[in-house]
Amino acid sequence: MTTNAQEFDRARGAMPGGVNSPVRAFGSVAETPRFFVSASGPYVTDVEGREYVDLVGSWGPAILGHAHPAVVKAVQDAAAHGLGFGASTPGETELAELIAARVTRDGAHPVERVRLVSTGTEATMTAIRLARGATGRDLVVKFAGHYHGHSDGLLAEAGSGVATLAMPGSAGVPAAIAAQTLVIPYNDLGAVREVFAARGDEIAAVIVEAAPANMGIVPPAHGFNAALADIVHAHGALLILDEVLTGFRVGPAGWYGIDPVPFAPDLITFGKVVGGGLPLAAIGGPAALMELLAPLGPVYQAGTLSGNPLAVAAGRATLDHLDADAYARIDAAATTIAEAATSALDEAGVTHVLQRSGNLFSIQFAAEAPTDYDTVKAQEAFRYPPFFRAMLAQGVSLPPSVFEAWFVSASHDDAAVSRIVDALPAAARAAAEAMPD
Ligand SMILES: Cc1ncc(COP(=O)(O)O)c(C=O)c1O
Repeated sequence: MTTNAQEFDRARGAMPGGVNSPVRAFGSVAETPRFFVSASGPYVTDVEGREYVDLVGSWGPAILGHAHPAVVKAVQDAAAHGLGFGASTPGETELAELIAARVTRDGAHPVERVRLVSTGTEATMTAIRLARGATGRDLVVKFAGHYHGHSDGLLAEAGSGVATLAMPGSAGVPAAIAAQTLVIPYNDLGAVREVFAARGDEIAAVIVEAAPANMGIVPPAHGFNAALADIVHAHGALLILDEVLTGFRVGPAGWYGIDPVPFAPDLITFGKVVGGGLPLAAIGGPAALMELLAPLGPVYQAGTLSGNPLAVAAGRATLDHLDADAYARIDAAATTIAEAATSALDEAGVTHVLQRSGNLFSIQFAAEAPTDYDTVKAQEAFRYPPFFRAMLAQGVSLPPSVFEAWFVSASHDDAAVSRIVDALPAAARAAAEAMPD
């Protein structure tokens, strides 16, 4: 048997930082990353044979729990028929129809056509190309602290790993490309109006996380998405709603379906849950826009593995099992864990707020609820690493960054939830004793 530390040493000799995605290196929580060998339901097991209750959920896809038998069987069955054909399959159409049918509200069907891709990064990248192709304009507006994947134009002041590493953006992005992205503060309609007043006729699209979850959870202000859509549309631009993280997670129709104020996005991007744990993501929108994509239109996009039959099978099986009962279980477990976290931190005298967007939540070590990236960054983030390490030591795997959401699954039953709840008081005390770096 090897240890996690031995695995990490070996990995660092083979891969930059020992990882294939930066946050996995556990740098911001000063801990040895765990190397997992198996997972089932709400549990993951590392190379040392230790089992943890998991609140990362593969960063979202494992919404039914790990290795859900129906999803595994669907993938096995698909694999037995061939790993991929580089050609069309009936399953792709069925998944596209399923996505279109689920994303509806008050009779509106914003998704008439779907293009399947392999990652959320591809989905947002394609949505932006499509918006530029449709409008003939170049500029894109994004919000500070929002993460839309790692394409060149979207890394400025990005959340998730870029925030965790406290990077302003990324080296290697040409200045000419960075200049095509305008970054403004979130939840600030004044800033939206200003940027449109200044450059409205050059702006192709605003891209927004439907309910931001990559700087911790920062819910949209009441009516923000609707007001944003109005401003964007008044200037002939498009609203790209990024539901890669929230889509099919916070409800059957994603955040689009539960925002307190209905609104009309133009393009919607999906990922994570829609692939059921395998590499699959999607862009959806009205036929008139989506059919600007090749082969019908002039906007080119393609992919060797797009619509891969195993990924399609995993996505379909996952969506099929995400019924009202599954969402009710996720919501109930999320409420219990969130309330227990808040009371443990209160008990330990730790100043904090717990922000929620549906069943997604995270803790922020601040007195007032952060509303944008600046207020998120102003929190006492130094309290998170000891909190995280204390949870891990007690067998609970939290996201290794204060800037990430906690992902609850439908498999988090009473036993799993109790293990989390029991671990929280010691972690809260560790947070209380934390000192600034
Ligand atoms: C809102 C959002 N958009 C896009 C992405 C990028 O997805 P992927 O990591 O599959 O490229 C993410 C990933 O975390 C995300 O949360």
